Amino acid sequence: MYAFEIGAGSKTELYNDLLGALDGLTADEPDPIANMANAAALIFQYLPDLNWAGFYRLLGDELVLGPFQGKAACIRIAMGSGVCGTAAATRETQLVADVHAFPGHIACDAASASELVVPIVDQGRLLGVLDLDSPSRGRFDAGDAAGCEMLMRMLAPRLAG
Ligand code: SME
Repeated sequence: MYAFEIGAGSKTELYNDLLGALDGLTADEPDPIANMANAAALIFQYLPDLNWAGFYRLLGDELVLGPFQGKAACIRIAMGSGVCGTAAATRETQLVADVHAFPGHIACDAASASELVVPIVDQGRLLGVLDLDSPSRGRFDAGDAAGCEMLMRMLAPRLAG
């Protein structure tokens, strides 16, 4: 069993604590799927107000569903499609306050109202994206984007196959 001390303080503290916990969980494990699975579980457990948290992996020229927590989701997403495909194609974090206002948003869970998608890049190679969904509009801010980018920078070498 794992026990984590994950802060109830500021957002910065929360992400710093998550970084430490994720670092400890993944440091000695070379398998990318195992590391994605534990990262999805930890993020879903400790970030408040999420209905979906997980990974899409770049396989060939499309994104394929990876380990996640939440309802069953769409399996394949073309580069440039939806929020995830846009993050992958541009390699830029997508912070979407209202998914219904995002052209081409792909609805996997009708409950999702806002979304944060962070590209995962290791040594210049795009590995996939981290996708977080919330049932609340405007759930994610720049602090969440910076926090998740920090988590993915640390994790990227441990998610490379
Ligand atoms: N909404 C995403 C699809 C993935 S699900 O949210 C899990 C998108 O538009 O790319």
